[in-house]
Amino acid sequence: MTAAAPKEKWLTGIDDEIAFWQHWADTRGGQWPQDYANRIDPGFPLQPQIARWLDPAAARVRILDVGAGPATYVGRRWDGHEVELVAVDALAERYDAALRFRDALPVRTLQCETERLTERFPAGSFDFVNARNTLDHSYDPLECIRQMLRVARPGGHVGLWHFADEAEREAYAGLHQWNFSVQGGDMAIWNRAERHSLRELARGLGTIVDIPADGAWEVNVVLRRD
Ligand SMILES: C[S@@+](CC[C@H](N)C(=O)[O-])C[C@H]1O[C@@H](n2cnc3c(N)ncnc32)[C@H](O)[C@@H]1O
Repeated sequence: MTAAAPKEKWLTGIDDEIAFWQHWADTRGGQWPQDYANRIDPGFPLQPQIARWLDPAAARVRILDVGAGPATYVGRRWDGHEVELVAVDALAERYDAALRFRDALPVRTLQCETERLTERFPAGSFDFVNARNTLDHSYDPLECIRQMLRVARPGGHVGLWHFADEAEREAYAGLHQWNFSVQGGDMAIWNRAERHSLRELARGLGTIVDIPADGAWEVNVVLRRD
């Protein structure tokens, strides 16, 4: 099996993902009302774990959130700076058709698979490219990471925020097809058929600049675009 082979399986998980977000929109976040409130708040502050990688002298910063869901969780206010926040998702058009938000969204999610970012955005367009809890749901996380690095500007950053071994925990159900784990300053990207190194994958495009210790449950990794 190659990294792109799970697309058929990926397609079978889409309805579950839409049903999850449908319930979330209908119930204004259900058991996560604060998360809902944050996502529809036009003044929600940019998270410090993203802001710390941005140039404090920049008047304006451009941030891309990939696999953002119907309403990005990324903050859109950074005092003293203008933030341009772009959100994309492979299911954006499906979310638009299915979800009835009763509140206005400050950032509308645009249609784009992370594997195809360079078809929508020029190389080097963003100061920070963010992926939370999404690449392990994608059909080709290796290509996703390459594409994220390509649309980041040289000296910009890519943030990957995922839980360890999600596909194993979810028994490869729905969109959960890939595991991430930390090993010796590198991130392994793996499933039952194959295993890859983030450091090798990024070679020539980016360098890992922040990664937790082995065995971390939160696999939070930042790369700098070379
Ligand atoms: C669990 S949600 C996470 C949403 C958001 N990142 C967050 O943290 O709240 C996973 C999202 O990834 C999206 N997704 C899965 N595969 C994708 C792909 N190949 N390209 C873009 N988005 C994808 C799904 O449509 C879904 O909206």
